[in-house]
Amino acid sequence: MFNKEVYIARRQKLKRQLGKGLLLFLGNEESSMNYKDNWYHFRQDSNFLYFFGLDKAGLAAVIDIEADKDMVFGRELTLDEIVWMGPQSSIIDQAAQVGIEDVRPPAALAGVLSAARSSGLPIHFLPPYRPENIQKLSELLGLSLAAIKGQASVAFIKAVVEQRSIKSAEEIVQIEEAVNITAAMHLAAIKGARDGMTEAQLAGELPGIAIGAGGNLSFPTILTVNGQVLHNHYSNTVMKEGQLALCDAGAENKMHYAGDMTRTFPVGRRFTGIQKEMYEIVLSAQEAAIAALRPGILFRDVHLLAAEKLVEGLKALGVMKGDVKEAVAAGAHTMVFQCGLGHMMGLDVHDMEDLGEPYVGYTEELKKSTEFGLKSLRLGRALEPGFVVTIEPGLYFIPELMDLRKSEKKFFEFINYDKLEGFRGFGGIRIEEDMLITETGSKLLGKPLIKRVEEIEAARS
Ligand code: GLY
Ligand code: MN
Repeated sequence: MFNKEVYIARRQKLKRQLGKGLLLFLGNEESSMNYKDNWYHFRQDSNFLYFFGLDKAGLAAVIDIEADKDMVFGRELTLDEIVWMGPQSSIIDQAAQVGIEDVRPPAALAGVLSAARSSGLPIHFLPPYRPENIQKLSELLGLSLAAIKGQASVAFIKAVVEQRSIKSAEEIVQIEEAVNITAAMHLAAIKGARDGMTEAQLAGELPGIAIGAGGNLSFPTILTVNGQVLHNHYSNTVMKEGQLALCDAGAENKMHYAGDMTRTFPVGRRFTGIQKEMYEIVLSAQEAAIAALRPGILFRDVHLLAAEKLVEGLKALGVMKGDVKEAVAAGAHTMVFQCGLGHMMGLDVHDMEDLGEPYVGYTEELKKSTEFGLKSLRLGRALEPGFVVTIEPGLYFIPELMDLRKSEKKFFEFINYDKLEGFRGFGGIRIEEDMLITETGSKLLGKPLIKRVEEIEAARS
């Protein structure tokens, strides 16, 4: 937890931004896996963490702007719960640590909301993503389940996005800790891969590092020799010498700030010649993208710059042809780079994705494209100092996409299909770093982790 002044200041700013009404926050509940009391690992809602810092299930909070009152709703443990779970510090004591004296029982929430409704005050809430919170909102506000998402407050969403997008110095310290834990996970994967091991055996080593550091995974690990499948988690597939393993994994630290990195490395000791050439193309696209980062530049343009670098590299290998800029403008790069260059990162690995990409990644003036490729770019808008973003270009050879585009007779002026054919079964390469946008450019977060071919081969030997 940060000092209570941090949470008080965040809530005060929110009050100034919204000006009027009640702000309702629902924390997360425990979530059952296969019977009621067998729970998934608990994860608090990130907006709740950001403004209230309380990392417990079953809480709610209200900010009454006019009355300048911040309330938390929660109950103390019953004796039965203490028998099974042990004593825990009281909600009253925990709330005091984040600057809140007004703690009420959960049943009092409905009364506070109905009093506000009777006085004609707007009740703002954020878009819920868990079914139990959709149901709670429906009951508390007298709205149908179907109506809830559409009634989320755009003004509230925009105010939260405005605050959470700019990471403070104390948040950067937390994110760097998460990135360093993440880097340790990657080093273990790079060093631990062996011919004959399954993807799952290697992936299974990573949660121990994240949990051992006091946190957890920030998202389910992607570790696969089928890296062309963008979110292929891991399976019992046996990894073999000659293949590339792609590991996209991250930790969140004790305070729930995320890291998210990707490395691609040979299952054997060395990259093959062509693997090395492809890897260098991705690395140079990443370096060009990182060099372009600065306040004011559209992230969409950094994405397109990375796409140009990928095309340039593939052109040198004879896989692509024609004018590079025209190829990217026509979308020909999406044959091998189907996703976005990166996303915001903070308390969520895809930061604030619950609040909606139109608000987090785009603006009124810059809407997200619906074209294949750009429609998967989560962030397009102009960068600002304090943004934390991932830079994760890649090359993905997807046989089904190659077949489809060829049958559609698409991109014949930019793609040498005969050459491309040779990469059926090649897999995928992605390299990902976490970057802070500064006043003048950008800064790599965390201690640098090996990524050059020679460095990776040295670690593999
Ligand atoms: N690390 C997974 C992703 O960014 O989608
Ligand atoms: Mn990522």
